[in-house]
Amino acid sequence: MSGVILSIKDLKVKYGGIEAVKGISFDVREGEIVTLIGANGAGKSSTLRTIAGLVKPAGGSISFKGEEITGADPTEIVKRGITLVPEGRRIFADLTVLENLRIGAYLRHDSLKDDIEWVYSLFPRLKERSWQAGGTLSGGEQQMLAVARALMSRPKLIMMDEPSLGLAPIIVRGIF
Ligand SMILES: Nc1ncnc2c1ncn2[C@@H]1O[C@H](COP(=O)(O)OP(=O)(O)OP(=O)(O)O)[C@@H](O)[C@H]1O
Ligand SMILES: [Mg+2]
Repeated sequence: MSGVILSIKDLKVKYGGIEAVKGISFDVREGEIVTLIGANGAGKSSTLRTIAGLVKPAGGSISFKGEEITGADPTEIVKRGITLVPEGRRIFADLTVLENLRIGAYLRHDSLKDDIEWVYSLFPRLKERSWQAGGTLSGGEQQMLAVARALMSRPKLIMMDEPSLGLAPIIVRGIF
């Protein structure tokens, strides 16, 4: 179908002998927000981690903008324009806010100034705390940083695992 940028077909993920994702299929169209809903342990994070290349699929296919990316490594997937905001933030605790943002753009070689200003305009709190160590930010501020860092790669598709966990509604609105 036209406008589809991500197409998942019969994706399976196994950890040892255990099948965590038993064949999921869905499409994401340009401009669309798609939500995966399921019980704890249903395989949502596994699906996202597999699309991001962090886990190799046991079966099925993943294509992005018409090209097969099944089993590609995470660097290649970021280069093609997909980024993951992982569950539980995973920011670099010992690096400053600004350093975390720069790492989000590590595959780019152009000037980051405009993008840093852009993410600071989305999250003014981060601008105020530019020199603070990531690990000392509040939980919600760390979530903002994780989203801002993901945006620094200028993704065409951003995948967020539990983006609203522990955040005030106004911040959640900001993130979306
Ligand atoms: N690295 C791993 N090794 C072994 N089993 C794993 C691994 N990662 C996840 N699992 C298992 O795979 C299943 C799916 O986990 P996953 O994290 O994808 O679920 P989820 O839908 O994101 O759940 P939640 O809502 O609790 O975040 C679970 O039973 C989990 O214990
Ligand atoms: Mg999960």
